[in-house]
Amino acid sequence: MKPKIVRTVAALRRETRAWRSSKLTCAVVPTMGALHEGHLTLVREGLARADRCIATIFVNPKQFGASEDLSRYPRDEDADVRQLAKAGCNLIFAPPPEEMYGDGFSTTVSLEGPAKAGLEDRFRPQFFDGVATVVAKLFIQSGADYAMFGEKDYQQLMVVTRMARDLDIPIEVVGIPTVREEDGLAMSSRNRYLSPAERKHATAIYGALTLAAEKIRAGIDPQTATRSATLALTTQGFKVDYVTARNATTLAVPAVRGEPLRLIAAAWLGKTRLIDNIPV
Ligand code: PAF
Repeated sequence: MKPKIVRTVAALRRETRAWRSSKLTCAVVPTMGALHEGHLTLVREGLARADRCIATIFVNPKQFGASEDLSRYPRDEDADVRQLAKAGCNLIFAPPPEEMYGDGFSTTVSLEGPAKAGLEDRFRPQFFDGVATVVAKLFIQSGADYAMFGEKDYQQLMVVTRMARDLDIPIEVVGIPTVREEDGLAMSSRNRYLSPAERKHATAIYGALTLAAEKIRAGIDPQTATRSATLALTTQGFKVDYVTARNATTLAVPAVRGEPLRLIAAAWLGKTRLIDNIPV
């Protein structure tokens, strides 16, 4: 069944109020559209935990930098709605920008900690303020019990988890393992920008991370392992922003042996920036 689409906060609240009065729980899947199997997995996982699932579709201008082209971001609402219907999504919240950021909008949610780990924040300084602000609004607007996020954007997952905890927003942020193509490439809306040759080559990031994780598990120190991964990717034509091992929760540089680690990478292949991460 085609999910209902609402475009105002008032209409969203009418729907969720009716669910709550029938004692139904709900999950929210925040997206910027251009949906792929990774997003649909989040909807299905949301429905495995809650009675109802809302997907939000909003290309958030506040998380784009001056050099990042907001107007070039892929948009195809009809295709998104068809896919969400198949996944069993109950409601779509797709507000216009003026509904989210009305005249005189003046508030920014800004975090330290995982938002300042020196990963994405180093290359996209405005990004996490934009994400935390819009996600805080979506959590409050939806009143959802669960929020579903992919582990693919690992720093984002840590940031929104911390933000919900710090602001006492009564929602459980759930991280879902990255959905991968058959050759290991993490699914992403940006993969559509890759040429066929680049697409074939793009899986090298996952390969380099997997090898580095194996080395760390075999006792090689994380810095040496990630340095080799950087070198391997650079030799293969990637422009590497970072390949690094971090504490899996705080994203701090590892300080003690045996702490849980996450290997995290960002690299350019031609004009496309790819990110990926895996547990050690
Ligand atoms: O991951 C995304 O698509 C976006 O950063 C999010 C969480 C929907 C906020 O705009």
